[in-house]
Amino acid sequence: LFATSPAGEGPFDKRAVGRDFDRAAAQYDTHAGLQREVAGEVADGLVARLGSGDLGPLADLGCGTGLLGRALGQRGQTPRPLIQLDLAPAMAHRAHRPDAPAVVGDAERLPLASGQWAAVASSLTLQWCNDLPGVLAEARRALAPGGLFLAATVLDGTLTELASALAAVDGGRPPVGPFYDADAVRQILADSGLSGPACLDASRRRWAEDPLHVLRELRGLGATAKGARHPGGGGLGGRGRLQRLRSAYREVAAAPDGPVPATWNVAFLVAWKPAAS
Ligand SMILES: C[S@@+](CC[C@H](N)C(=O)[O-])C[C@H]1O[C@@H](n2cnc3c(N)ncnc32)[C@H](O)[C@@H]1O
Repeated sequence: LFATSPAGEGPFDKRAVGRDFDRAAAQYDTHAGLQREVAGEVADGLVARLGSGDLGPLADLGCGTGLLGRALGQRGQTPRPLIQLDLAPAMAHRAHRPDAPAVVGDAERLPLASGQWAAVASSLTLQWCNDLPGVLAEARRALAPGGLFLAATVLDGTLTELASALAAVDGGRPPVGPFYDADAVRQILADSGLSGPACLDASRRRWAEDPLHVLRELRGLGATAKGARHPGGGGLGGRGRLQRLRSAYREVAAAPDGPVPATWNVAFLVAWKPAAS
């Protein structure tokens, strides 16, 4: 469950984002099937575009426990340096390695020198940022001429089954998202001053034995409501509500029994810092 927050600052309450991911850090990896898969694809995308030689200075925005750095290592890549950055100190602590230092920081205000980075990458973090144009402006500032921006994020339509089930049970606007749609992201990329921008569809369905496993996984990942007030107060609610939610999810997914799908509209954002700028 993602969610809405104090007005005027964008959709997310950053203190809640940092706090919830801090709490999730210890068990994050046991729930991170999709995240591991996508981090591997981001690593493949970096290697495919930057070549298989030494990857130059690379920054990972919203590193979490360090899945992208580990995926690069599994591909024989050790970017020098690899700087990992996360809003949540406990995540940065878990990601930190002597050869890949992790720092606490905000992707919207990068603590990175200008014009020096061969790549700025990110996996499944931008959907938590309040200011995507601001993140891209910061990436553009930090990148060396000709440098690569490559990020995976999730777009509108993600967890649509859960959103519909929550709306059916609780009424009102469900605390899922908000997510950009692909057209909005394409426009933001086009306006970013980066060249060759692309927003590539990598959507997928994952399957869970039970609708409540989808919720449990999100909670294990720290992907819970960030400052939202909604029925259940950010928790799961009582047993009655959970049963109603389970039934509503199965109805929405047209899966009366057996595994249920969860849609993840993953997209890859790719763009380059113009060589001459
Ligand atoms: C879903 S996790 C993804 C972590 C990791 N990239 C992975 O693939 O497993 C999102 C991470 O982004 C971090 N995050 C959210 N907003 C951020 C921001 N504005 N700046 C830096 N990190 C942020 C969270 O603390 C969390 O660790």
